[in-house]
Amino acid sequence: MTRSEGPATRQIHAGYTPGEPQNTVTVPVYQSAAYEFESFAAARDTFALTRVGNIYSRNANPTNAVLERRIAALEGGVGAIAVGSGQAAVAAALLTLIAAAGPGQHHIVASNKLYGGTSDLLGDTLADLGIEVTLVDPLDHGAWAGALRETTRAVLLESVGNPVLTIPDLPEIARIAHAADVPVIVDNTMGTPTLHRPIEHGADIVVHSATKYLGGHGIAIAGALVDAGTFDFTARPKRWPRLTAPYPRFGGLVFTEAFDGTGGRTPFLVLARSKVVHDLGPTLAPATAAQILVGIETLDLRVQRQTATALQLAQFLAGRPEVARVHHPGLPDRPEHARAQRLFPDGVGGVFAFDLATGADSVETFVDALELFALAANIGDARSLVVHPATMTHSRLNAAGRAEAGIDLTTIRLSVGLEDVADLQADLERALDAVGAHHFSHDSEGH
Ligand SMILES: Cc1ncc(COP(=O)(O)O)c(C=O)c1O
Repeated sequence: MTRSEGPATRQIHAGYTPGEPQNTVTVPVYQSAAYEFESFAAARDTFALTRVGNIYSRNANPTNAVLERRIAALEGGVGAIAVGSGQAAVAAALLTLIAAAGPGQHHIVASNKLYGGTSDLLGDTLADLGIEVTLVDPLDHGAWAGALRETTRAVLLESVGNPVLTIPDLPEIARIAHAADVPVIVDNTMGTPTLHRPIEHGADIVVHSATKYLGGHGIAIAGALVDAGTFDFTARPKRWPRLTAPYPRFGGLVFTEAFDGTGGRTPFLVLARSKVVHDLGPTLAPATAAQILVGIETLDLRVQRQTATALQLAQFLAGRPEVARVHHPGLPDRPEHARAQRLFPDGVGGVFAFDLATGADSVETFVDALELFALAANIGDARSLVVHPATMTHSRLNAAGRAEAGIDLTTIRLSVGLEDVADLQADLERALDAVGAHHFSHDSEGH
């Protein structure tokens, strides 16, 4: 401090100059709620969206901005917004397209093979808001085409369906949606940008639960939405008045004229940030953004290792009498093998499922016999995890819903971690021996 100020003033101002650059090698955590404007005019213009600058960390933060640019670069998008969870990313992507259409009747078409939280969002919370949703079998192209309406604002699917690894034909679904001028949102959480970049296959918006593979450490919840910048909102301008007509809330700006993607500012992302994220507040803490950035540094190494280990374990399980079927498109006898090879030439990742042949009663014995696989509802962690979808992640589905999602009472999902494959295989073997010994000895006694 050059001036002599009182202790309370020094407590707050001494030794720090806002905006002064540092030369840290790693991304600093900008732990600030607000940002100091250099002048009145700078503040006025930044609030009016006509000048780029930090305002307040609910909408944007410099640490989060690095994460946003990094995820956009990995996915091949123009820009991104980091938010507090994958759930928030899916919700923000959908609500931005709904918001772009303004007040009125709105409809979404979505795959019926979605993460349970996304199904809850679509079937409960969005339904409460009067947003209609049609769920379709993602492999039934006629169903996608038949479900689209004049009021449809988004098509939503996952690049790899969870838990039985459904692989939709994204290029074909995107073609169908685009023929009706509807943008396509793809949740690429399971796919990962290492193995699959949906934008290259026709997606307009990509969403992530960064909690999973992007972080990879299982210590933080985060999400992101990425805009490819490819969807032309001006082709049917009356459908998207909040983007194509003057928006009074923002001084009469026409978003499609004001934002051309420069600096990651696409019409979709500016609306998402300045309206949906601003109004609803699903903010990502900058310290958490830094943790996800550290995770991303090893994304490809982890995913390659987990993909190889998962395939090896799937092959092992397929050869065991206690296993009825293995849901892994990398196995040549699976119906989705050819499509998986086309869309995921380097493999489908570290998550897969299998059905026990020994009956639903044996699930508990199997799961409790595992020592390395932790019983935990997550995926993409460095640790190997196991869940029983019917009683855990998908427990709110009834029998019909389970059948639609391809889940049996004997289905077990694994998320393969970074441990030695021999140890993981030995763990599965021990658990299969436990159920097999019980089941097959009963069989031989005529039970
Ligand atoms: C495919 C998919 N999308 C979205 C989510 C929601 O992400 P989060 O848990 O980070 O809110 C998950 C979480 O399990 C997921 O698996």
